Amino acid sequence: MKTIAEILALSTTFLAERGLSKPRRCVEEILSSVLGVKRMDLYLQHDRPLVEKELEAVRPLLKRRAAGEPLEQILGEVEFYHCRLAITPDVLIPRPETEILVDLAVKKLGERSLAGKTLWDLCTGSGCIGLSLKKALPDLAVSLSDICPKALAVAKKNAEINGLAVDLRQGDLLEPFFGEKADFIFCNPPYVSKQEYEALDPGVRDFEPKGALLGGERGFEFYERIARELPPFLRPGAQIFFEIGEAQGKGVQEIFSPLPWRRSRLLKDWAGKDRFFFLEIE
Ligand SMILES: C[S@@+](CC[C@H](N)C(=O)[O-])C[C@H]1O[C@@H](n2cnc3c(N)ncnc32)[C@H](O)[C@@H]1O
Repeated sequence: MKTIAEILALSTTFLAERGLSKPRRCVEEILSSVLGVKRMDLYLQHDRPLVEKELEAVRPLLKRRAAGEPLEQILGEVEFYHCRLAITPDVLIPRPETEILVDLAVKKLGERSLAGKTLWDLCTGSGCIGLSLKKALPDLAVSLSDICPKALAVAKKNAEINGLAVDLRQGDLLEPFFGEKADFIFCNPPYVSKQEYEALDPGVRDFEPKGALLGGERGFEFYERIARELPPFLRPGAQIFFEIGEAQGKGVQEIFSPLPWRRSRLLKDWAGKDRFFFLEIE
């Protein structure tokens, strides 16, 4: 019988030989998940032998990773801004940049009274933005929407996992909110251009939903639609928070330059790239 340390070493080599990034970290995560222990415990129990049943559970997960499937889909969950979120192939895997967006917003919105205020998370996917904001700022009335029923089912499950009371709407962009108005809009829409889509890392292109990535020919389709369609859905002084692609800063500034949009701000992520665009309406 092989010990945890031996399995760690062998499996790391197996993944590294297939050119996968962070092979040891992946193996640690897979072993921790199968054995139900923390990553640190793998080292504290390094000489513990794995029984055949445990090995049988580990092998298929390693094979899926070796075939390029993202670790988050294999494990079926991620941690995102104090929430545990279920992940399926129907939703985009939440990115660390999106946690920055939530953190910036929590700091900005947390300074004021939010009782009676409404927040919509458009293009919600896993629900990561709207759910983590509801958890951090519970006075907000939060709605999550997505065009994809399967994605919305994942967001619903994530609301339940985290014990969060939110409203869920299915439909095309603002269509589910017809006749209503909001104070805060969040949206991390599909923003990859056709050309960028073809050049995406296969681990993203082959495993994550195309409908969550592709934002029209040039990647700006959703920002253009929102600029046109959103004004009647906003209360006076409403604030909008977008995530954008790193090369889209100038483009979104132009899209939102005419009135009624005002006080737009382009913000950068940890890598110093344009990543967020905040604005208000008159
Ligand atoms: C980039 S993902 C964002 C997911 C999540 N908000 C996040 O930050 O990880 C975009 C999401 O937009 C949804 N979507 C695509 N087209 C849409 C449309 N016309 N109306 C509403 N949602 C749409 C996709 O199903 C996908 O879940």
